[in-house]
Amino acid sequence: MKNIRFGAVCAAAALAVAGIAWSGGAQAAEYVIKLSHVVSPQTPKGKAADIFAQLVNERLQGKVRVEVFPSSQLYDDNKVMEAMRLSRSKTVGLMAAPSLSKFVKFSGQLQAFDLPFLFDSIGDVHKLVDHPVADKMTDPLKSKGLRALGFWDNGMKVFSIKGPKPLMDVPDDFNGMKFRIQSSDVHSEMIKALGGTPQKLPFKEVYTALGQGVVDGQENAWSNVYSKKFHEVQDYITVSNHSYLGYLLVVSEQFWSNLPAEIRTELEKAVKEATMANRRFAAEADSGDRLKVEQAGFAKVVDMPVEKRKAWRQVTMSVEDKFRDEIGADLLKEIHQVLDN
Ligand code: LMR
Repeated sequence: MKNIRFGAVCAAAALAVAGIAWSGGAQAAEYVIKLSHVVSPQTPKGKAADIFAQLVNERLQGKVRVEVFPSSQLYDDNKVMEAMRLSRSKTVGLMAAPSLSKFVKFSGQLQAFDLPFLFDSIGDVHKLVDHPVADKMTDPLKSKGLRALGFWDNGMKVFSIKGPKPLMDVPDDFNGMKFRIQSSDVHSEMIKALGGTPQKLPFKEVYTALGQGVVDGQENAWSNVYSKKFHEVQDYITVSNHSYLGYLLVVSEQFWSNLPAEIRTELEKAVKEATMANRRFAAEADSGDRLKVEQAGFAKVVDMPVEKRKAWRQVTMSVEDKFRDEIGADLLKEIHQVLDN
């Protein structure tokens, strides 16, 4: 209850920033959507989830109620996808926005988003997700019981480390170091190419794993570093912007296809509005949360010189070759064409 109230406060604040009016209030409804995510409500995903919930709760009062469960309160990402796939309820639906890196079991194509140095900026990411080619990456999900509703941003990732110096020279600075990664095989190969040892761990375990030295470092976007206090247990952060952290908002296909068409249309409209707000929140967090980390004075933030970036790009080029078949050679070609235009 306390968390729902906290979520409502965050939602009202987020809506105000997004310029959308909200009147709030929980009501009984014909359909309930439980939206589960793993990050803090103050992050771009957390705020977008709250906005979506409040838009729906206001516009579809009595018909649909969305309840948001942040910070892995309900499920972690891998568990929520299984729960969504198994769920048979026609009135209570599960929704989540796991990171794109967590969909490998359901769409080999989505692994393209994890490739190091594929995107030079978030502008590049938007070129891809706003292009019809993105549908080819999400289409396989339907037959696995998941319906894709929208792509949400976090941002480009940076690398943090507990150690004597920032991660800069490859492979030397990675040698002998263990890095927490998400459940992505692309990330695993990337860490190995950089010279380090990867270890897959759920997001909720990262802070403790860093603090107890189970792993030496991790990669993430600024809002996650700041909101989960990773910078307090790390010595250096290298602004590598080496790959993208973004999300796919998904809902259980069974629940979705049972909803009346006019409700689906309203929900899709709310997703679009929340997506636009999410992009603004992500852009703000990218610079704002970096600044907060710098001001906190725990980990030292180090920018990456162009020639070092070139060296990282060079040593990780083999990763794309390794995943070309799983992603699909033709699809990968198309993705590059979209990005080059
Ligand atoms: C992570 O596991 O590092 C991220 O996927 C968490 C998130 O959802 O941003």
